[in-house]
Amino acid sequence: MSRASPATRVRAGRRGARVQHWPRILWWVVLSAGLLPALWLGARTAGAFGGLGVNPIETLLTDSGTFTIIFLLLALSVTPLRRLTGQAPILRLRRMLGLLAFGYATAHFLIWLGVDLFFDWQLIIEDLTTRPFVMAGFAAWMILLLLAATSTRGAMTLLKRHWTRLHRLVYLAGILGVVHIVWLTRADYREVTLYALALATLLGMRLFWALRTPRKVRGEPARNGAG
Ligand code: HEM
Repeated sequence: MSRASPATRVRAGRRGARVQHWPRILWWVVLSAGLLPALWLGARTAGAFGGLGVNPIETLLTDSGTFTIIFLLLALSVTPLRRLTGQAPILRLRRMLGLLAFGYATAHFLIWLGVDLFFDWQLIIEDLTTRPFVMAGFAAWMILLLLAATSTRGAMTLLKRHWTRLHRLVYLAGILGVVHIVWLTRADYREVTLYALALATLLGMRLFWALRTPRKVRGEPARNGAG
């Protein structure tokens, strides 16, 4: 058996170092990019970049809501992207993108609660019980809250295989998010159509792979108990 020369070993070592480092660098790049919309919205709220326009509350709600759906769709893209590229380290981005989506959803929710409705509980209850688009958005946020709360290593260890099942609810959050936007859109459905198409594609891919892969390979018990 031929042994590698010292020069080959050094080159392989350097390649190994690169392989180890790029996921961490990518993680920081994606996190920094993910925080930019928050900084931009914060700066506009403080009056920079032309401020928030003639209807600041509407701008805050629309922009925070848009960032929420974009990060939710990005979080949902991670697994299909990993499957298509074969690059397992991409999976490290999933939790961070999901938490960014939750962060923007929480900002959006708090803007509605505090800036739009001035924490007037009567108005809040009325909105939550009579406006279907608010109900759908609230349900989506509750799911994201549950997923964020169980996104720790401790929760993963505790819930074992139930964790994966629980975290599939992210698709339901995506559906409710899109339904929320469809319901509140009064004209120009182009943007929400794009979100719906992206979500349908991601869901379709997952479904296609799930049906093609035998349960045993996916690590799930067979329904007939055969293992
Ligand atoms: C995953 C969760 C959510 C997503 C993806 C989302 C997304 C969005 C988007 C994109 C918009 C702007 C639509 C447009 O003007 O074209 C919006 C508006 C709005 N959202 Fe959400 N939202 C979510 C959760 C919530 C929650 C929890 C609430 C409150 C309980 C809420 C209340 C509102 C309100 C009041 C508006 C403004 C409606 C209007 O212009 O009349 N959303 N949302």
